[in-house]
Amino acid sequence: MPILRMKFGMKLSTTFVSNLIMMLTSIHSLTRWAVLFFGLWTLFNAVRGVVSKKGYDKPDNLSNLFFMISCDIQLLIGIIIYVSNGWFEKLTGGMGPVMKDTYSRFFAVEHAFTMILAWILVHVGRTAVKKASSHKKHKAMLLYFGLALLLILISIPWPFREVIGKALFPSF
Ligand code: HEM
Repeated sequence: MPILRMKFGMKLSTTFVSNLIMMLTSIHSLTRWAVLFFGLWTLFNAVRGVVSKKGYDKPDNLSNLFFMISCDIQLLIGIIIYVSNGWFEKLTGGMGPVMKDTYSRFFAVEHAFTMILAWILVHVGRTAVKKASSHKKHKAMLLYFGLALLLILISIPWPFREVIGKALFPSF
């Protein structure tokens, strides 16, 4: 059985490692729905708050807190599969070939970088909402989380997208 020799003399079978990466990719695919659910909930609360001019309350805070946590989980799993599935290696091997190939360009560059940008917006947004005066909190929510959700929506490899499209749900 092929064996991977890790640091400190640890040995892992390559089948075990590739199954683990496949499982993480499936989890990454599934948790997108949590990100989208909490993102849409946050957006709904932001729009309702701006329109009705109501105060910033517990559901407003909870929705964007869960949106941030789900994005953190997604980023963490994303980075693990990015490195272990060879995307980082591809990028360091030269930008030319990566940029010429639609599939590689999407996962090695566009998807990863746009999602990191969305993640930064979510974190900056959470601080901005906390610091904003009470009548401006919903506007800050709408701006930062709305923009982050838009970036996430356009960077998901939806099944209808040519070449890079993936299934809506993973098969375990
Ligand atoms: C909110 C953030 C994110 C969402 C919603 C998201 C969503 C997705 C989805 C739906 C897939 C397709 C999975 C499949 O069915 O095969 C995917 C693939 C992937 N994502 Fe993300 N992602 C996010 C952030 C990230 C980040 C920050 C990175 C890396 C830094 C990343 C790296 C990857 C990689 C490398 C793949 C392709 C795996 C492969 O087939 O090799 N993702 N992502």
